[in-house]
Amino acid sequence: MGFKQLIQIISLLTVVSANSLVLHETRPAAPAGFTSQGAASADENVTLRVALKSNDVAGLQAKLMSISTPGSADFRQWLTADEVKSYMAPSTATVSAFTSFASANNLTHSVISPHGDWLSMTLPVSHANTLFAADFQKFTHESLTEPITRTLSVSLPSELVGHVDVLHPTTAFIMPNARFRTRAAASPARKFTMNTNSRIARGLAKRNDSSGVPASCTVDAFLIGPACIQDLYGIPTAPATASSTGKNTLLVTGYQNEFANTADLKSFLQQYRPDISSDTTFTLQTLDNGTNSQIPDDAGPEANLDVQYSIALATGIPVEFLSVGGGTTDADLFPEMLDTITYLQALETPPTVITTSYGDNEGNFGPTLAAKMCDGYMSISARGVSNLFASGDGGVRGGHDNHFQCSNNTFIPVFPGTCAYITSVGSTQDFTPQTVAPFSSGGFSNFFPVPQFQAAAAAAFIRGLPGDFAGIFNKSGRGFPDVSFAGTGFTIIEGNFTTGQSGTSASSPGFAAVVSLINDRQETSCPALLAAGKPVLGFLNPWLYSAGAQAGLTDITEGKNFGGACSPSVVAFNATKGWDPITGLGTPVFDKLLAAAMA
Ligand SMILES: *[C@@H]1O[C@H](CO)[C@@H](O)[C@H](O)[C@H]1NC(C)=O
Ligand SMILES: *[C@@H]1O[C@H](CO)[C@@H](O)[C@H](O)[C@H]1NC(C)=O
Ligand SMILES: *[C@@H]1O[C@H](CO)[C@@H](O)[C@H](O)[C@H]1NC(C)=O
Ligand SMILES: *[C@@H]1O[C@H](CO)[C@@H](O)[C@H](O)[C@H]1NC(C)=O
Ligand SMILES: *[C@@H]1O[C@H](CO)[C@@H](O)[C@H](O)[C@H]1NC(C)=O
Ligand SMILES: *[C@@H]1O[C@H](CO)[C@@H](O)[C@H](O)[C@H]1NC(C)=O
Ligand SMILES: *[C@@H]1O[C@H](CO)[C@@H](O)[C@H](O)[C@H]1NC(C)=O
Ligand SMILES: *[C@@H]1O[C@H](CO)[C@@H](O)[C@H](O)[C@H]1NC(C)=O
Repeated sequence: MGFKQLIQIISLLTVVSANSLVLHETRPAAPAGFTSQGAASADENVTLRVALKSNDVAGLQAKLMSISTPGSADFRQWLTADEVKSYMAPSTATVSAFTSFASANNLTHSVISPHGDWLSMTLPVSHANTLFAADFQKFTHESLTEPITRTLSVSLPSELVGHVDVLHPTTAFIMPNARFRTRAAASPARKFTMNTNSRIARGLAKRNDSSGVPASCTVDAFLIGPACIQDLYGIPTAPATASSTGKNTLLVTGYQNEFANTADLKSFLQQYRPDISSDTTFTLQTLDNGTNSQIPDDAGPEANLDVQYSIALATGIPVEFLSVGGGTTDADLFPEMLDTITYLQALETPPTVITTSYGDNEGNFGPTLAAKMCDGYMSISARGVSNLFASGDGGVRGGHDNHFQCSNNTFIPVFPGTCAYITSVGSTQDFTPQTVAPFSSGGFSNFFPVPQFQAAAAAAFIRGLPGDFAGIFNKSGRGFPDVSFAGTGFTIIEGNFTTGQSGTSASSPGFAAVVSLINDRQETSCPALLAAGKPVLGFLNPWLYSAGAQAGLTDITEGKNFGGACSPSVVAFNATKGWDPITGLGTPVFDKLLAAAMA
């Protein structure tokens, strides 16, 4: 073979291999706040989680819509773990495509999900760069203790196209500190910094002119406690009666080393639920070597908020706290979220209600990761789980107030709120009337289209807008939140100090408690059905958007959220009659929502 011929063969091979890589996902730059420190070293090992395509996502979507839509023949006939797996498992062709690729490239992988649709493999950066046309770099962020390894672009060898949904970590940059909570008052407490012009202060002032604010609605200055919330929504204080079957449980997720302190819980119950045993507590579940330190200084404000209000409001419902480990230095919330999904998928009897107060800007997840995680949430909802998430605290500008890094007026939606298969909970404040909490995140997805059950509600809202908002938000996207709940000035006890917390983090556990108590009443009225896994509310959304359930919600029509035009003070959306992307369909009226559920 002559030299020239050899060159031709080599260049032919190069062309073939270049052609055989198909761009999978790319982003023009890392999100604001992340800075590249240059290429990751070639021999650094990167552990990639690989999502294989499930064999019938569309089939599960159709089935879930049917079983969650009032009036259908199989309404609330929730699926078993095996039934869900039959849709979610990858096909044999997909498994063998990946297995051949792995063995051809000396890759060892392990299956890390009960459905077999997530794998893990560790390989050197140099190998990953070549196999996936990536350019792994080290990125720093002021909130990170260590740099993270990411690439701005990832491709798939053509033989994996249609078989692999996601490679992570590649182009997803999930922010550190993904909790949706802002401190409403300083600790050690009782030095309240909230300014008296705030709407919550005005709401409390209205109490003086006896205009219907529950007398229980002040604990101290501007803070409220469980009694106020029970009075506001008519939430029963009598303990759940049927939960001894252990089938109706409320799970609170805990990430990023947020620990729920049992001594704080006890003193919270002593002070704010003196009518129930202060020994009432949660069952600890752990994943990934998660712990639950009981050192007072380790008490997490998020975990304490979520657990104290879940237990104080869902009277008598068994509450579990799931502490997921591994979440500090890598600062990527994704492993904790994925491992929660796969943990739940494996349970024969999953909790009936889940509340999560964490998330991040949708764009930071990126389209492929968000889509695969949303499929995972769909698989959990199909089991008859009401899976609630805080909508975020940045108004129209992401999960947190992102105006500091704002360069244009584009609104930033928040995930998982933008996934149609979870229920997103926004925040309100005030009492007469209840109004928007301006931090309440809401908007429209750039990745997920509006689901059928929400289409009319979202279209009505968009029709009422004053301008066309072209380029500001995506009018064909899934809108969030779905519902709302009080979220300002919640008293908590943290490390033996009383403090106040505000955020959609406060709202999600509250709404979750309401759903749990409705499940309990259903169980009481028909224990045999619950034993069969049938009548719990399960996936809520199509029911919530039905006329029946709307009669059990107070439509919030006053107030606006912030974050337009790159500024927290510039208003964005208004609350309107009907669904709006700040407060959703509204806040619960317990007895009416219960009646709608039983209808
Ligand atoms: C990467 O993993 C291989 C195989 O386990 C190991 O031999 C190598 O030392 C690791 N590289 C680094 C930089 O840690
Ligand atoms: C795979 O690994 C073996 C030894 O572990 C080595 O001999 C072989 O060259 C490797 N093949 C590739 C394609 O890297
Ligand atoms: C109610 O009125 C009293 C007396 O006028 C005043 O001291 C108090 O601050 C008011 N409460 C609120 C919450 O505004
Ligand atoms: C949990 O701890 C064990 C023992 O230290 C370790 O082998 C394992 O890798 C850890 N698992 C995770 C997910 O961190
Ligand atoms: C607006 O800013 C966001 C990040 O803040 C960015 O992702 C987006 O591409 C920008 N849009 C335009 C039109 O420049
Ligand atoms: C808007 O949303 C639709 C539906 O989800 C999506 O297909 C489209 O790509 C989005 N457009 C932009 C500019 O993000
Ligand atoms: C908590 O604070 C109270 C006073 O508010 C004190 O009596 C009690 O000893 C403290 N408990 C702990 C464990 O520090
Ligand atoms: C919100 O309401 C105000 C007052 O009615 C109106 O001027 C403004 O245009 C509305 N903004 C939006 C986005 O609907």
